Amino acid sequence: MSDPHAVPARPPAPQLLESRFLALRPQPAPARPRVGGRVVAIASGKGGVGKTWFAITLAHALARGGARVLLFDGDLGLANVDIQLGLMPERDLSSVVSGGMTLEEAAVRHAGGFDIVAGRSGSGALSALDGVTLARVLLALRKAAERYDYVIIDLGAGLDATVRRMAVFADLLLVVATEEPTSLTDAYAVLKLHAADRGADRGSIAASEARIVVNQAGSRTGGERTYATLARACTAFLGHAPRLAGVIRRDERVPDAIRRQTPILARHPTAPAAEDVETVAAGLAGD
Ligand SMILES: Nc1ncnc2c1ncn2[C@@H]1O[C@H](COP(=O)(O)OP(=O)(O)OP(=O)(O)O)[C@@H](O)[C@H]1O
Ligand SMILES: [Mg+2]
Repeated sequence: MSDPHAVPARPPAPQLLESRFLALRPQPAPARPRVGGRVVAIASGKGGVGKTWFAITLAHALARGGARVLLFDGDLGLANVDIQLGLMPERDLSSVVSGGMTLEEAAVRHAGGFDIVAGRSGSGALSALDGVTLARVLLALRKAAERYDYVIIDLGAGLDATVRRMAVFADLLLVVATEEPTSLTDAYAVLKLHAADRGADRGSIAASEARIVVNQAGSRTGGERTYATLARACTAFLGHAPRLAGVIRRDERVPDAIRRQTPILARHPTAPAAEDVETVAAGLAGD
């Protein structure tokens, strides 16, 4: 018999239901306690969007802010950090891969106040690193990161296994897109695979967050619109939108600095594109 004093069960209030669903939601992997500096990788999918220039300028901006920075040329097949900076390094990543040097020994100091581990363009040996050697390099990078505040990795274009492995290894992935539709779809592909790789690595790899950088924007508002387009696609198909790390305006002083093989922050420190990268650097430092 039913209890005549029992209060009839009422459906839970909508907010209560919502919080129950929230509680049942799969939880993100717990953040890996980071030892040493923050590893930030720069990717894009589409080539030629400005990754290498941005990686160099970000490293320089962080160093000017007083951080200890290592810039690692992770474009293993077509390295060109050294070319954009006009360096002829006597040592580079190939010495590390062959087992002769530690990453710290292979690093060269730039006058801008940051260290560089250069790659070697056209080196078949580096572009075809096997999984075991790549794991060894990444371990060495994590070890080197103990002596720095930031390790910036300039990745190659595309989505090959090495790029994906380095992207998910980083604590933060900055995906560079421009206003061109092909760059946007390629950036989306990178974000999608990165989300899948993060999922596959749950438990062993921390929440390697991704954020978006819009480069070569016609204006700040134009860049923000481009970000909004990409963010909408991410929300619709991936279930969440990466944050905007910053908009960098198109600026003729960028190709000028590259042609002169000089960092833009040394040659044109007040150029809009240089200031925009400093804003991105300040955002990272303030995290
Ligand atoms: N903010 C900007 N304003 C104007 N030009 C830019 C800007 N950023 C990059 N560029 C131009 O884009 C070109 C490509 O830059 P960069 O080599 O850094 O691209 P990348 O993404 O590293 O290319 P790859 O995929 O081949 O490695 C540069 O030569 C430069 O002239
Ligand atoms: Mg490049």
